[in-house]
Amino acid sequence: MSQSDQNTESTNQSWGGRFSEPTDAFVERFTASVGFDYRLYAQDIKGSIAHATMLAKVGVLTEAERDLIIKGLEGVRADIEAGKFEWSVSLEDVHMNIEAALTKRIGIAGKKLHTGRSRNDQVATDIRLYLRDAIDVISGELNRLQTGLLDLAEREADTIMPGFTHLQTAQPVTFGHHLLAWFEMLQRDHGRLRDCRARLNQSPLGAAALAGTTYPIDRAMTAELLGFDKPTENSLDSVSDRDFAIEFCSFASILMTHLSRASEELVLWTSAQFGFIDLPDRFCTGSSIMPQKKNPDVPELVRGKTGRVNGHLISLLTLMKSQPLAYNKDNQEDKEPLFDAVDTVRDCLRAFADMIPAIESRKDNMYEAAKRGFSTATDLADYLVRKGTPFRDAHEVVGKSVAYGLKTGKDLSEMTLEELQQFSDTIEQDVFDVLTLEGSVAARNHIGGTAPDQVRAAVQRARTTL
Ligand code: ARG
Repeated sequence: MSQSDQNTESTNQSWGGRFSEPTDAFVERFTASVGFDYRLYAQDIKGSIAHATMLAKVGVLTEAERDLIIKGLEGVRADIEAGKFEWSVSLEDVHMNIEAALTKRIGIAGKKLHTGRSRNDQVATDIRLYLRDAIDVISGELNRLQTGLLDLAEREADTIMPGFTHLQTAQPVTFGHHLLAWFEMLQRDHGRLRDCRARLNQSPLGAAALAGTTYPIDRAMTAELLGFDKPTENSLDSVSDRDFAIEFCSFASILMTHLSRASEELVLWTSAQFGFIDLPDRFCTGSSIMPQKKNPDVPELVRGKTGRVNGHLISLLTLMKSQPLAYNKDNQEDKEPLFDAVDTVRDCLRAFADMIPAIESRKDNMYEAAKRGFSTATDLADYLVRKGTPFRDAHEVVGKSVAYGLKTGKDLSEMTLEELQQFSDTIEQDVFDVLTLEGSVAARNHIGGTAPDQVRAAVQRARTTL
C-alpha cells in the first residue's frame, strides 16, 4: 500500500460529494477491499474496455474518448503488471483504484468511463470473469490428473491387491481397477465444474446499481465482447446473487473430499505396514529427529486442506443467507473465500497430477496381502452355487473352511482337495481355478468389474471422454 494510506482522514473523491466529514480512518481500512480484490485487476480492465467500446457504439462516448480510455486502461494494466502501480486503501477497492489511475493518466475522459454502470454490476462481472478463467485452469489440471490416472491404471491393469470393505480384506481386485474408481469420482467432479462454468457464463454488466440504467446501452454487445453466452435476465438478481461462487465452492468441497480419500489411501499404502506403493523422494519429506523417516507430506497436506475448502463453502453459504435484494456490502466478503478455494484446489490438483504418474507399485507386497485374509472365500461360495449348492449353505461351508484355515494357518488355496472336501463333497479338483487370485479377478468380467480385461476396456472408454 502507498504512503497515502497512512493518512488518518480522507474524503473519497469517487463518492464524497454528499459527505460533510471525512471517513473515519479505521472505517476506511475496515471497509476497503483493495488488499484482496486487486487480484481482479485484469478482469476489471477487460470489463471496462468492453463497457467503453459499447458506450462509444451507442453514442454515449465519442470514438476519441473511447480510444483514450482503452489506451489509458492498457497503460494502467502495464503498470500493474510491472509492479509500478500504487494501490491505495483510501480508494477502497480495485475498481476505484483503476478508475482514479485512468483519470490521472488521460484526464476528463477517464471520468466518463463509469457512465451507465455501477461498481455493483462491475464487481459482479469481474468475479464471473475471474472465476471463469480460474475454472479453465483448474479444468486443465483436473484433466492432467485424470490422464495420469488412466495411464497408471493401464500399467497396473494386471496388478492384484486386496480389495477392502470396512478396511478388512474383502476380495482381490486389480490395482488398475482401484485407480479407475478414483478416476470416476474425478469425472463427476469435472462434470460439476463444467456445469458451474456454463451457469455462471452470463453477463451482469448493465444491471448497474440494481435497476438498470437510463442510457441506451447494448448489453448483448458487452456480453459478446466478454465471451459471455448472453446478458443476465434480471438486474436485481445480477448484482446480488453469488450462487455461482457457492456452486464453485461446492464443486471444490466435493473434489477435495475425493482427493482426501485418495490421499488417505496413499498415506496408508506408503506405510511399512501396507508397503503397497512407493512415492518418489521428491514428494516426501524427512523428520528432523528420526533419520529413518520418509513422510508422505503431499497427500497428508491435501487431506488437511480439505477442511479449509469446506470452510469456504460454509462461509459463502452463510454470507448469502437471508440477504435481501439487491447488492449489500456483505458481498464484498465473497472474494477471500473464493480466491483461497481457487488457489487451494488448483495447487492440490497440481500436486496430485505431478505425483500420480510417479507412483511405483510394490506388486509382491500387494499380492501377498491379497493372499492373506481369505480374499477368495466368496469365489469358493460362488463355485459351490454353480455346482448346485444353495447360496446360504455354500456360505456355511466356506465359513467352516475359513475357520479351519485360521486354525491351521492355511489360505483356502493352500489346502489340499481332501481338506476342502471335509466341508463339502461337491468340491472337486477344478476348485483351484477359482481359489487363485488371478482366477478370482479374471472371473469378474463384466462392465465395471475388476478383471484386467475390463480395466483395459474401461481405460479406453474413459480416454474418449477426456
Ligand atoms: N468492493 C465492493 C465489493 O467487493 C464493490 C462494490 C461496492 N459497491 C458499493 N455500492 N459499495 O463488493
